[in-house]
Amino acid sequence: MIVVAIDGPSGVGKSTVGKALAAKLGVPYLDTGAMYRAVGLLARRHGVPLPIPDPGRVGELADGCEVRVTGSGPDTRTILDGEDVSEEIRQPEISLYASAVAAIPRVRRRLAARQREMALASGGVLEGRDIGTKVVPEATAKFFLTARPEVRARRRFEELARKGTPQDLGTVEAEMAARDEADSTRADSPLAFDETYAVVDTSDLGAEEIAEKLRGLVLAREAG
Ligand code: DC
Repeated sequence: MIVVAIDGPSGVGKSTVGKALAAKLGVPYLDTGAMYRAVGLLARRHGVPLPIPDPGRVGELADGCEVRVTGSGPDTRTILDGEDVSEEIRQPEISLYASAVAAIPRVRRRLAARQREMALASGGVLEGRDIGTKVVPEATAKFFLTARPEVRARRRFEELARKGTPQDLGTVEAEMAARDEADSTRADSPLAFDETYAVVDTSDLGAEEIAEKLRGLVLAREAG
């Protein structure tokens, strides 16, 4: 069974590359960030402010909800308690909520267990921040994607414009830096990689090219 971990900060092309790689390998693709976003959305709907004053309350909300990620390729949907929230979770405000709820150990425990279950049931390409370090340390292959900061900000800026929620480039850069800082310095499962990862800089390559390169590496690992 093939399990691939793709970790890295936002704007490095994890989703595009991950979906293309999953299609090439014929395994499901799982965007774990979407699950944190769904819990972030739930917290906002319950009127929880930022910064989160009562993490216990958000832990309860996470334990009491059902988050599913269904479909494959471009048709991936995120379902929160039966409701399709795929578009709503991409709003910039929900990015901040997602990062905030992702720092709560009880939320992480719940979502990581679910992610691990899905990976071990059918294999897959899992994309996130802690996939190879915590969720499936035994993955067939682990990749940490990076890109130059200006490239990441530009990609995110274009993605938001395309999705109808444009933000100016300065705001995108500032929010990205704040989220990177929060995701990399939290106590529980910070964004990190170790010697078991292959680090790939995506600044100057197309998604298809990267996915093809990763496919070769995964198959070599699987055979070896
Ligand atoms: O990849 P993304 O931007 O959709 O992720 C949203 C937030 O969720 C991000 O700020 C970090 C967090 N996250 C995490 O802590 N662990 C994961 N496996 C995936 C995402």
